[in-house]
Amino acid sequence: MMAFWLVIATSPSLAADDVQRRGEYLFRAAGCANCHTDEKNHGAPLAGGRALKTSFGTFYTPNITPDPDTGIGRWSETDFIRALREGVSPAGEHYYPAFPYTSYTQLTDADLHAIWIYLSSRKPVRQANKPHDLPWYLRSRVFLGIWKKMFFHAGAFRPQPDRSAAWNRGAYLVNAVTHCGECHTPRNILGGFKPSLRLSGNADGVEGAAVPNITPDKKTGIGKWSENDLAEYLETGATPDGDYAGDVMAEVIDNSTSQLTKEDRRAIAAYVMSLPPLEGTVRKRTDRKPKPKKEAYE
Ligand code: HEC
Ligand code: HEC
Repeated sequence: MMAFWLVIATSPSLAADDVQRRGEYLFRAAGCANCHTDEKNHGAPLAGGRALKTSFGTFYTPNITPDPDTGIGRWSETDFIRALREGVSPAGEHYYPAFPYTSYTQLTDADLHAIWIYLSSRKPVRQANKPHDLPWYLRSRVFLGIWKKMFFHAGAFRPQPDRSAAWNRGAYLVNAVTHCGECHTPRNILGGFKPSLRLSGNADGVEGAAVPNITPDKKTGIGKWSENDLAEYLETGATPDGDYAGDVMAEVIDNSTSQLTKEDRRAIAAYVMSLPPLEGTVRKRTDRKPKPKKEAYE
């Protein structure tokens, strides 16, 4: 009986610690710090200002530290969850999909809560946001409402009951957390995903660089890789043919997938290799002409 009460008495703080730790794990896996820190110019962590060059213009990430004036220090948890689930700001404005809420919408409530707890524990940094550099016709956020009606479906991930827990974990990590499709899925001219071609490569990816097909198609994808090859690549960046990941993928591996548990990397690999092979239009990485290395996203 004594022990029982001890557990009750100590569990709230333990649980809070666990939640924050889970939040940190997810935050890293989701690459939040990656985009929201201007590392190139030695910017403070999470204070934003990183330039994201896209075919639509240059976006500057906002400050997501708990600073009340320049960050999100006045936000409630509900505001935060709405931003990631629905792509809507506390003032009711739509976000540009350069913020991958198109994937984060699938995060579960419990995981969004954990990320919020972790984010709220970070150091506030006073740094004003920089306006995006976009063509005039994209500056109004009103059109984003139409875009979202056409291409965005809000809602948390729902596990498929006929699949294993590991498969569902892989699906969740790929689609909600590590957002592989944001780069690897081809988009239409309006920047919406082509869902039937999921993960089959994007000829006009980040900074115009091609992003390879990662479905298990033998000819144009990674059909010749084993599940182990893929898990290994996500840990070390080494490809089965003795090459190394370059471009932004090296950054994804460093900051996100190499930091996952082995089980989570294996779940991602098993899920990706279970997808239908799709013939992609992007030439395989090994067929591409070598090009000068660029800064990630820049
Ligand atoms: C690929 C880059 C990228 C990643 C990864 C990313 N963000 Fe962002 N985020 C952005 C951009 C760009 C905006 C601004 C969107 C706009 O102005 O419409 C933004 C906006 C936000 C906002 C709204 C801030 C405000 O002041 O309105 C929050 C909150 C946020 N991100 C949190 C996160 C969290 C949490 C993660 C990880 C789960 C994350 N972001 C991952 C690029 C990114
Ligand atoms: C920010 C964009 C981005 C994200 C997110 C991303 N990738 Fe990549 N990925 C790339 C790029 C660009 C390359 C090409 C890298 C190179 O040239 O070495 C690549 C390469 C790869 C390759 C090598 C394919 C080959 O034929 O050599 C695999 C496998 C891969 N990614 C899997 C994934 C998985 C799984 C995820 C999610 C966990 C993911 N990627 C997330 C951009 C991304």
